[in-house]
Amino acid sequence: MSTKNEQLFLQAKKHIPGGVNSPVRAFAGVGGTPVFMHKAAGSKIYDTEDKEYIDYVGSWGPMILGHAHPKVIDAVKAAADDGLSFGTPTTFETSVADTICDIVPSVEMIRMTSSGTEATMSAIRLARGYTGRDKIVKFEGCYHGHSDSLLVKAGSGMLDIGEPTSQGVPADFAKHTITLPYNDPQAVKDCFEKWGDEIACVIVEPIAGNMNMIVPTQEFHNTLREQCTQGGAVLIFDEVMTGFRVGLRGAQGHFGIKPDLTCFGKIIGAGLPVGAFGGKREIMECIAPMGGVYQAGTLSGNPLAMRAGIAMFEDLTVDGFYEGVADKVTYLVDGIQATADKQGIELRSTKLGGMFGLFFVKDSETQVPQNFDEVTACDMDKFNTFFHGMLERGIYLAPSAYEVGFMSSKHSTEDLDATIKAAAEVFAEMAAAY
Ligand SMILES: Cc1ncc(COP(=O)(O)O)c(C=O)c1O
Repeated sequence: MSTKNEQLFLQAKKHIPGGVNSPVRAFAGVGGTPVFMHKAAGSKIYDTEDKEYIDYVGSWGPMILGHAHPKVIDAVKAAADDGLSFGTPTTFETSVADTICDIVPSVEMIRMTSSGTEATMSAIRLARGYTGRDKIVKFEGCYHGHSDSLLVKAGSGMLDIGEPTSQGVPADFAKHTITLPYNDPQAVKDCFEKWGDEIACVIVEPIAGNMNMIVPTQEFHNTLREQCTQGGAVLIFDEVMTGFRVGLRGAQGHFGIKPDLTCFGKIIGAGLPVGAFGGKREIMECIAPMGGVYQAGTLSGNPLAMRAGIAMFEDLTVDGFYEGVADKVTYLVDGIQATADKQGIELRSTKLGGMFGLFFVKDSETQVPQNFDEVTACDMDKFNTFFHGMLERGIYLAPSAYEVGFMSSKHSTEDLDATIKAAAEVFAEMAAAY
């Protein structure tokens, strides 16, 4: 990597812990120096020396229309001209709320926040307030932001209370969080049998995008819905990543499941800081000022983010939009898979809508990973070699084997062909080296 990036990273580290404002940006998983980007347009992102990369990170998901989409930029410029924040209700918030409630049938009311973390944290407080219960259930390998109750892993026994995964999270908080294996209907049933009437909510990434990508079984989702309904627990779909990404109605549209609450983020603000949680009216009415569950935010429903979101929804709701993005994903992933197969690289892939996952498995017997343990068993060294080989060739993938790829509507066939060609070159090097 260029000495310029190394210098910039050193400078950044002087006053910013680890040189980054979010850990995955530091390249800790893949090694090497992070690339400092300074502008982007369409499918491309550019570093400080104006080197161009075809971008499959898309700011970790929001950029489904491509970077610097003219309509979104115009909306943000117009919003800025009108003033940055008022701390009053605006009609823009009403428009975004109406749009989301019209599109997603399970969402009858919605509250905006400034990040996905706030959305999941608030949804959990709401579920606890609504049910009067303390325990929450989450799944191994799912990420829901960094609030205390969610930085918890399974205890030593399968159905044990949780242990913090971060220093600074009191064990007294973690003990209310139960962590189960993902995509395992029996574990959900056992959990409800043991804790049933103490569980406030189950929070799940309905398609996991934070342990690479796992599309769970329909049975898993049917079981979640059944057990929550029977047990009186709130089912929370964390669609911060999958919402308006895997399809217009998100993962809940794909599985035909109606969660009680849904969390959003990323895409709904088109790249500006945003989050939201919404769902059943009866539950949402428990939030202040209507009910006794407190939740607030100085910049929640910020006019820049709302007006960017409104502009973006105009394109997302055009017929065929998601089919177009999904076709690009299929073209790319099938192309990469075919070249891997040809060169004897044990690659497995998953895709849905505008998201895809690539796994380097250790042998020909291993199928596409279906839970966190199987993702962890993948060959991380091979992923890192692939990542750096692609980066050198101007292809920007997420710098971690636990992350997914994001497609935009602006990726052209030339971009996809260039990516497949780069992958073929890297696979040829890997085949010779391993
Ligand atoms: C599924 C999911 N939930 C919640 C979050 C947290 O969102 P934010 O980073 O906006 O706080 C993320 C972030 O990547 C996410 O992927």
